[in-house]
Amino acid sequence: FHVDIDAAQADKGTYPFYMLKEIDEQPNVMRKLSQVYLNDNGQPVINQDLLDALKAADRLYIVAAGTSYHAGLVGAKLFESLANVPTEVHVSSEFAYNQPLLSAHPFFIFLTQSGETADSREVLLNVNEQKFPSLTITNVPNSTLSREATYTLLLHAGPEIAVASTKAYTAQIALEAILAKALGEAVGQSAARDFDVKQQLALVANGMQALVDEKDDFDAIAKADLLHTPNAFYIGRGLDYAVSLETALKLKEISYVQAEGFASGELKHGTIALIEKDTPVIGIITQANTAALTRSNLQEVAARGAKTITIVTNNLAQDGDTIVLPAVDERLTALLSVVPGQLLAYYTSLNKGLDVDKPRNLAKSVTVE
Ligand code: G6P
Repeated sequence: FHVDIDAAQADKGTYPFYMLKEIDEQPNVMRKLSQVYLNDNGQPVINQDLLDALKAADRLYIVAAGTSYHAGLVGAKLFESLANVPTEVHVSSEFAYNQPLLSAHPFFIFLTQSGETADSREVLLNVNEQKFPSLTITNVPNSTLSREATYTLLLHAGPEIAVASTKAYTAQIALEAILAKALGEAVGQSAARDFDVKQQLALVANGMQALVDEKDDFDAIAKADLLHTPNAFYIGRGLDYAVSLETALKLKEISYVQAEGFASGELKHGTIALIEKDTPVIGIITQANTAALTRSNLQEVAARGAKTITIVTNNLAQDGDTIVLPAVDERLTALLSVVPGQLLAYYTSLNKGLDVDKPRNLAKSVTVE
C-alpha cells in the first residue's frame, strides 16, 4: 500500500504539516458524521440488516491495531453503556494467533483507518472462515477489509496523510457512539434513547474548535515541559485511561519521548519508581466517579518530584489546572481530552525539528504481519 504524498501535497494549503491540518479538521469531521449518520431528529440512520445482525449478537468483539485499537477501547464503553451488550477489545496481531474462547453468537467490528492492516485482515479471514458476521469501520472506501467484511461503515474523515492518526481516531469514536445509540434503541435501552448524540456531537465540535484555537498554549506547554524530557506519563482511569494510552502513543510516535499511558491507580504498584525530579506526568480527569482518585495519584507523583499537568473537564476543574476542557456527556469526553495530547505531541515534535508527518521507522499503513 502506498500513499502518494506528492500528489496530495497541494492539499496541505498553508499548513507546515498534514498532522496539524488533520487535527484542525476534527470539528468538521464531527459535523460530517452527524450529517451522514443522523437524521433531522437526531435518530441514527443505520442499515437495517447491520442492526439486525448486531441485535442477534450476544457479544461484540472489536479488533484493531494501534490508534484504532485505542478508539476501540472507548467504543467498548459506549456499546456496554448504551446498548448493554458485553464488548471485548482485542489487538489484531494477538487475536489472530491466540483466539480467545468466543461467545455463542459473536459479532466482529474491525476498526481500521486504512482498511489495509495485515494484522487485522488476518483476523477477518479467520472470522470469515468461521462464518461469523462482521463490520469494518474504515476511512477508505473499497479497502480490503471493507470488501471482505459483511458490512462497512465509512468514517468520512477525508484522507489522513500524517502517519500519526488523529482525525480517524475521533471519527471512529463518534461513529461508535452513533452505532451504539442505534443498537441500544433497537434493543430498547433507555440509556440510548436519552442519549442525544446529535446535540452532543455539536457540543464536541465546538469544544474541539475552542481547543485548536488555542494552539499557542499547547506550544508553550510542549516547550516548557516536554521538549527536553526523556520520558513522560499520561495517567487516568476508565475512559481517561483509554485516552492516556492514545496520547502517550502520539508522543512516542512523533517526538520519540518514551511515554507511557497508565491506569492511574496502577502507577504506585511499580512504575512510580521511574518518577524523578521533573518527570512530566499528565493527568486526564473527565470522569466524576474517579476524579478525586486520579487527583490523589497526581499528588503522589508530585510528592516524588514529578511535574504534573492536568487536562480536566470544566465541571471537575479546580484552581491550578493546566488545560480545561468544555464539558460534554461523560461518555464522549475522549473526543475532547485527546486533542491536547495530539497538539502536545505535535509541538514537541515540531520544536525538536523532526519530520512530524513521517516519523522514523513508521508507515501509515502496515501490510505485513
Ligand atoms: C500503523 C499506523 C498507525 C495506525 C495502525 C493501524 O501502525 O502507523 O497510526 O494506528 O497502523 O492502522 P489502521 O489503518 O488499521 O487503523
